[in-house]
Amino acid sequence: MIQFTIEDRNGERQPIEIPEGINLSLMEVLKASEYNILATCRGMALCATCHVQVLNGLNALPSAQDAELDMLDTLPDADSDSRLACQIRVDDRLEGAIFRIKSDEPS
Ligand code: FES
Repeated sequence: MIQFTIEDRNGERQPIEIPEGINLSLMEVLKASEYNILATCRGMALCATCHVQVLNGLNALPSAQDAELDMLDTLPDADSDSRLACQIRVDDRLEGAIFRIKSDEPS
């Protein structure tokens, strides 16, 4: 099992356990876990509604590619620990990580 933690928009944290070997992005896991994430572009790094802040474990993650960096550049509230959840594959590099949901609550 891969274990990591999600902090929602109210600051509440919940541990998530994912079996190893599933081919999902963090965005897909968030949606499957009923977090309110729009993911309008369905994981194409075009909408930024899956913006997360990596509070722990950023250095263990694979580096962001250009498309993700370009999109993060357009966000006024992005910081050096910002990532797009759709561009993060869930594997053992996420073990122990803490992700805070940063995108606005969809209305
Ligand atoms: S789902 Fe659109 S950028 Fe991640």
